[in-house]
Amino acid sequence: MPIRSILAGVGAYLPKRVVTNDELAQRLETSDTWIRERTGIRQRHIASPQETAAFMGTEAAKSALANAHAEPAEVEAIILATSTPDQAFPATALRVQAALGVTNGYGFDISAACAGFIYALSVADSLIRTGAARGALVIGSEVYSRILNWNDRGTCVLFGDGAGAVFLRAGKGRGTIDRGILTTHMHAQGTLGDILYVDGAVGQPEKSGHLVMRGQEVFRHAVIRLAEAVDEALAANGLTRRDVDWLVPHQANLRIIDAMGKRLGLPSERVVVTVDRHANTSAASVPLALAEAWTDGRIRHGDLVLMEALGGGLTWGSALVRM
Ligand code: UT7
Repeated sequence: MPIRSILAGVGAYLPKRVVTNDELAQRLETSDTWIRERTGIRQRHIASPQETAAFMGTEAAKSALANAHAEPAEVEAIILATSTPDQAFPATALRVQAALGVTNGYGFDISAACAGFIYALSVADSLIRTGAARGALVIGSEVYSRILNWNDRGTCVLFGDGAGAVFLRAGKGRGTIDRGILTTHMHAQGTLGDILYVDGAVGQPEKSGHLVMRGQEVFRHAVIRLAEAVDEALAANGLTRRDVDWLVPHQANLRIIDAMGKRLGLPSERVVVTVDRHANTSAASVPLALAEAWTDGRIRHGDLVLMEALGGGLTWGSALVRM
């Protein structure tokens, strides 16, 4: 019987401070109406100096472990997706390992921007399937507030901070009706790196390190690539869109989310939306949305959940999971 990665627990952390569109409009030439109509965003959480990617990732990981009734000793791999690590190294994953009191196994960060959680889930699933780990924490944790140009209304209104996590346990599955990750798919197109990027890093100290985006172009690619990713995930499993119970999409723009929901023929109440309250939290957005719908009881054991995301790179992908 093949080994499957079972989503044993899900967790989340959001910074305490909430910033509304109206608050941004007090010091930027923007409005609540523009932001809501173009993106669906009403507010976002913004991290305090103490709420770093490691801090928030640790809190999300703790709640995922508690949700899974798992002890830190069960954690053999920690894979953390972030574009806003606390330090160039050690990996943020290892700061989380230390904070959790995990003393065995290994961990590393993944840099795949907004598709980071899908990439991390895919890598963790491979590790579990091949026996390289029996328990894995997969975390998306981001503090984009630190890399935004707060004078650029075209980007700074779009993002928020937060972290989400899942704990995967190795389990034996049989066919597609059993629980666990059915398939993941990762894609990238490096030739599109200049439509969404950060203009600096520790290797380039003279640069400012702010997020830059050509929004309309990213939007166009997102709608095309995510639609392909949805079709690819279903075809790989011999499933049709009628089999999908929930869409848990990356939360960048309500218009993109609605387009994917329509493509799957899902009623809006079967599409998990958090962009209105969280804005775009990059690698944290999918696990934050999953945690919300799992914790409030909307998503249940046995439900088929399709996750997808696209981000700077460009990177994109999907994960199809039986909860
Ligand atoms: O997570 C990674 C993936 N990211 C995405 O998927 C994001 C994809 N892109 C988008 O979601 C949308 O393109 C945006 C929300 C970023 C922008 O929406 P848009 O409908 O494409 O607007 P636009 O960029 O074409 O701008 C329209 C107008 C412009 O003014 P003019 O040139 O028409 O006079 C902008 O200057 O809106 C203006 N504008 C704003 N006005 C008020 C841009 N930002 C703002 C703002 N407030 N915050």
